[in-house]
Amino acid sequence: MRNKIVAGNWKMNTNFKESKTLVKQLRRAVKKMPLDDDTRVLIAPPFVNLPSAVKRTRKSSIEVAAQNMHQAINGAFTGEVSAGMLKSIGVKTVILGHSERRTIFEETDALLAEKVDAAIANGLEIIFCFGELLEDRKSGNHFSVVESQLKSGLFHLESIAWNQIVLAYEPVWAIGTGETASPEQAQEMHAFIRKLLQDTYTTVVADNTSILYGGSVKPANAKEIFSKKDVDGGLIGGAALNAEDFKAIIAAI
Ligand code: 13P
Repeated sequence: MRNKIVAGNWKMNTNFKESKTLVKQLRRAVKKMPLDDDTRVLIAPPFVNLPSAVKRTRKSSIEVAAQNMHQAINGAFTGEVSAGMLKSIGVKTVILGHSERRTIFEETDALLAEKVDAAIANGLEIIFCFGELLEDRKSGNHFSVVESQLKSGLFHLESIAWNQIVLAYEPVWAIGTGETASPEQAQEMHAFIRKLLQDTYTTVVADNTSILYGGSVKPANAKEIFSKKDVDGGLIGGAALNAEDFKAIIAAI
C-alpha cells in the first residue's frame, strides 16, 4: 500500500547555519512523535546544505531530498548537479517539475521527461510536481492540463518504475498565495489522477502511488486536507521553514 508523506520544500531559503538549526529542531520534534510505519517525513534543503542535512538526519526517520537535478550524467553544464552526485552524498529522492522550475526556469515537459529518466536510471525516487494555473482552473481546463503534464512527464515509464514515483499536485494559484485548494477540490483532482493511473497502468500502480497536495498547507488546514481519501500527504513550502508549524503538519497526518 502507499505511504503517507509530509515533505518540506525549503526552496531557496536557509543559509548553512539556519539549515543546521532547522534540521536539529525537526530531528528533535520528529523523535518525540509516534509516526506510523507507513508515514514518511522528508525535507528538501538547498543543494549546499544537503550533505550536512544527510549527516544530521542519519539517526532520525527524516529523509533528505534535493529540489532539482540536471538530466545529464556529467559534463560541461556549469552550475548544475547530476543524479549521481546526489546519490554520492546519500540523497535518495529528488523533486522534479516544481511550478517554479517550470515557469521561472522554463523547464518544459520534454526536459522533465529527460530528468525523470535520469533519476529513475540512477535509482532515485522522484517527487513529481504538476498543477494548473489560475486561468486553467477558471476556464475549466484544470483536468486536461494535469493529464497532459502527467502524460508528457511520466506516462512513458514502465509500471515497475512507479515504485520510484511520488506525485505532488500543486495548483499554481495556491502556491505561496495563502489561498488553498479546498479539501473537496484537492480530493476531486487526486481521485481524477488515481483513475488516470488505473486506466493508463494498473489498479496496483494506482493504489500504491502516493499523491501529495501542495499549496499553502498550514497547521490550520492540514488535517482537513489530509483527511481526504486520495490525499496521501503534502508538499509544504513556507510552513516547512518553521519547526513548530512543520511538526503540527506532520501531526495532522
Ligand atoms: P507553499 O506551501 O509556500 O504555498 O508552497 C508550496 C510549494 O510550492 C511546495 O513545493
